[in-house]
Amino acid sequence: MPPVGEKINRRSLLDVLLAIGVVGWLASVLFPVLRYLKPLGVQTQNGPIKLKGEELSKLEKDHSVIVRAGAARIVVFEDSTQQLRALSAKCTHEGCTVQYVPGESVIWCACHNGRFDLDGRVLAGPPPRTLEKYSCTRESDGSVVVQLGRGPEAA
Ligand code: FES
Repeated sequence: MPPVGEKINRRSLLDVLLAIGVVGWLASVLFPVLRYLKPLGVQTQNGPIKLKGEELSKLEKDHSVIVRAGAARIVVFEDSTQQLRALSAKCTHEGCTVQYVPGESVIWCACHNGRFDLDGRVLAGPPPRTLEKYSCTRESDGSVVVQLGRGPEAA
């Protein structure tokens, strides 16, 4: 029979190993559940975004591009006077993605034929509110930057 001190050490070691096993098992079960339950809304980005190479190419070629900033969509376009503009691309009616129609100088939502002017104001259709407007600039190195997180830009 082992001495009493050694028995306590073995028992303590087994208790510690058992506790580590239980904590590890709980973590492996709870982490995926908590990650799944985390709301998506926190993914919206704030601050400036810089268009990537392929986005810039599309903007040059088509005069407009839809870019993502976290969960938000932004339509960046160049109007007939070569002024860069940026609006929320999420229609204020039911959330479809709007697009710039250069030939008509309007922002159009294909879902229910909603139409906005180039400042995001509603011209026709069911959308109840204007699109959020953001500041958009071309930097000296040719890059295009959209300022987010300051709320809608004053028209
Ligand atoms: S979702 Fe855009 S007009 Fe209905």
